[in-house]
Amino acid sequence: MYIEEIVLENFRNYNEKNLTFDKAGSFLCGMNGCGKTNLLESIYILVYGKSFKTINPEELVMHSKEFFRIKGFFNGTHKKKIEFRFSHGKKKILINDVEITNMKELIGNVALILLSLNDINLITGEPAMRRRFLDSLLSLLFPDYLSDLLDYRRVLRQRNKVLYLRKIGRRDDISGIDGWTDELVQIGSRIIKRRLSIMKDLNECASFYYTLFSPQKDRLSVEYALSFQLNESIKEGFYESINKRREEELEKGMTLTGPHRDELSITINELPIRKYASEGEQRTCAISLKIAQASFLKSKRNDSPILLIDEAVAELDKVRTEKVLNSVTTIGQCFVATTNCEMLNTMTTLKTIDI
Ligand SMILES: Nc1ncnc2c1ncn2[C@@H]1O[C@H](COP(=O)(O)OP(=O)(O)O)[C@@H](O)[C@H]1O
Ligand SMILES: [Mg+2]
Repeated sequence: MYIEEIVLENFRNYNEKNLTFDKAGSFLCGMNGCGKTNLLESIYILVYGKSFKTINPEELVMHSKEFFRIKGFFNGTHKKKIEFRFSHGKKKILINDVEITNMKELIGNVALILLSLNDINLITGEPAMRRRFLDSLLSLLFPDYLSDLLDYRRVLRQRNKVLYLRKIGRRDDISGIDGWTDELVQIGSRIIKRRLSIMKDLNECASFYYTLFSPQKDRLSVEYALSFQLNESIKEGFYESINKRREEELEKGMTLTGPHRDELSITINELPIRKYASEGEQRTCAISLKIAQASFLKSKRNDSPILLIDEAVAELDKVRTEKVLNSVTTIGQCFVATTNCEMLNTMTTLKTIDI
């Protein structure tokens, strides 16, 4: 899918703005603070129903205004109009003029990947960042994955509550926990199975891009790291571990095993990237993972994703930048926000929009 037109009203620094886009995308050029990231943010909101910068929609309303509205016209495998309205503390999302009642109706219509300078957190940040990376990819590939994920979080909260109340002495027994454990293991095992099912292809794809972008032809490897020992099956291993760690769970007041504790292990030439790689290598790795994600979506969904690239290439050298741009432009519609349009302009044929 790609976006053909966007209409902004009172969104951040845009009072009224109407822009049309090429199928290939464009460079968004302009000085710091002119609204490049804001424009990318508005496209992101149409796809995910939330911002990547804030959880508070009030911040998105132009100062001294009462509401904002974003309208986007998408085309590709099908035509779709998506509208996001926010006024008086309430948000409303409409698809083809019909208001949706559940976010699940929105997610998955359009595949979109954001690349930004923050992506280095994917490498250096907490394991939760890497789980989120997998979860967002799988949610776009399988609608039932998102349902499982939401169910898992609900069951986990309940189970943790029982453990926590016992720990602080507000509860004497933990009767009822077995029911939560059963549900947790059922849903959690499905989540792990799905995650494992894409690892081989994802690893190949990410290491392909890493080798392409890195001059030394280093080897990147991305593997799934379970929080427990695999037994006969995922389910059995999960059960065994969760039962074995009951004492520890009671002590800490939380669930210590499961997909919420799993993570990705990322290495370059078999060394953990977090500890040994340079910042440039870590950035290149993060970009490779994100581009692999986009390329993966394209092949598995049979639909081109949209790529929002917010200064992500700013810290890369010229050779890497050119390779990255050449790769992303073959995958889908690209919006590249940059203050350095002159240099990037010589590298691809994307049109320039002055912001
Ligand atoms: N709610 C808002 N109302 C008005 N202006 C805003 C709002 N939120 C952010 N801005 C303005 O948007 C500008 C930043 O835009 P941004 O897209 O981040 O710039 P850049 O082109 O550097 O990416 C700042 O000048 C900021 O003051
Ligand atoms: Mg910016």
